[in-house]
Amino acid sequence: MEDVKIQLSEKDIPKQWYNIAADLPNLQPPLGPNGKPITPEMLTPVFPMNIIEQEVSTKRWIDIPDEVLEILYQWRPVPLRRAIRLEKFLNTPAKIFYKDESVSPAGSHKPNTAIPQAYYNKVFGIKKITTETGAGQWGSALAYACNQFGLECKVYMVRISFDQKPFRKLMMQVWGANCIASPSDKTEFGRQILKEMPDTPGSLGIAISEAVEDAVHDKTGQTRYSLGSVLNHVMLHQTIIGLEAKKQLEMIGIKKPDIVIGCAGGGSNFAGLTFPFAADKINGADIEIIPVEPKACPTLTRGKFAYDHGDTACMTPLLAMHTLGHAFVPEAIHAGGLRYHGMAPLVCQGVVEGLFTPRAYHQLKCYESALTWARTEGFICAPETSHAIAAAIDEAVKAREEGKEKVILFNYSGHGLMDLSGYNLYMSGKLTDYELPDDILNKSLEILKDLPKPEVKKGKKE
Ligand SMILES: Cc1ncc(COP(=O)(O)O)c(C=O)c1O
Repeated sequence: MEDVKIQLSEKDIPKQWYNIAADLPNLQPPLGPNGKPITPEMLTPVFPMNIIEQEVSTKRWIDIPDEVLEILYQWRPVPLRRAIRLEKFLNTPAKIFYKDESVSPAGSHKPNTAIPQAYYNKVFGIKKITTETGAGQWGSALAYACNQFGLECKVYMVRISFDQKPFRKLMMQVWGANCIASPSDKTEFGRQILKEMPDTPGSLGIAISEAVEDAVHDKTGQTRYSLGSVLNHVMLHQTIIGLEAKKQLEMIGIKKPDIVIGCAGGGSNFAGLTFPFAADKINGADIEIIPVEPKACPTLTRGKFAYDHGDTACMTPLLAMHTLGHAFVPEAIHAGGLRYHGMAPLVCQGVVEGLFTPRAYHQLKCYESALTWARTEGFICAPETSHAIAAAIDEAVKAREEGKEKVILFNYSGHGLMDLSGYNLYMSGKLTDYELPDDILNKSLEILKDLPKPEVKKGKKE
């Protein structure tokens, strides 16, 4: 019998996060409205200073506070599982491992950063946090985290997901949060969008603008905003995934995986699993690292590496990232968490450096993979996660064709038990694929033409 669950004991949980910024010296700084690098003080209306310090830190290892670990122990360390039944079904010599992030209270990797973010806000004296959510995974994770620390939580949920995923909204309410559809009439920017595009499905860019506006306009000074992906501190908090996985692979005598895969929306679950392996790659290890995105929102594969805003109303600083343009409204595909115009600057710099090789898939292929998964391994994955599964299956088939015993590792970023309406549409033949046409993409990228351009630099610092 081969091990199918590799369990790390609680005492072996990582006590520090890995900060890849220490190993990416060419990372371009965020810019303010004057085109100059922003200072930490400029971010204080939006984030508490203890989080800003992490955002700008280049220290390689950062301690995880005991108060955070205490809550993470509720579900961490999470199992590293081996997908033996899928391997058999594919008749592949490859070994397929996955890190099971679906076992958290909210059902995804998102609480790994929601808990520390709520903690840092709490110790800074903040009383209320605003945020946006795409699929509802992040909103429910932050609702849970705020509940643990006694903070108020307000979530702007992208309208299309609000309508498609009513149970996520109920989860947020169970944990005491207030969830509203975005665009909403609660903010100036929301009202403006509703006037211009009354039928818009919404986008993460719009929801971020609403949540930031809500936080910075709060007169009490005790409200801050929180982001579930994209920013450096979020990537940092998620590295606990890859650090655990490394220990678990070592436990069964595997020195390194050959291929590491994560789906990529804003980049956080991908970063969380892969950054600790990227550190090895920077130091010479031969590992293929693959972010997978939807063809309907192909940020890394067809977007431009440029300075762009993280939100539609241009309230956030300019970030050096691959982007489809901050006004881009993606098609209403069911992987709501992958419908974002930009991507984490740390992930993008990794792509520039040649550390990561992105690819994009259509949603029908991903749902087909999700069904193969459910009918072999038994678990029902989130639509976002199905992108990683599709890539793992492709790589396992390639290994079979090449007769190679590859070790494939992917991030099982969440379960799909709240996403069954998408499965329903797929199984009744009602879903279609959507490839972003060149003319729409080019038009959307025009918005970048007067913004500063990042330097494309790679390798060791000169
Ligand atoms: C299950 C799941 N996986 C992946 C993602 C994509 O986000 P990120 O790229 O930040 O991991 C989301 C976002 O909501 C998600 O819910």
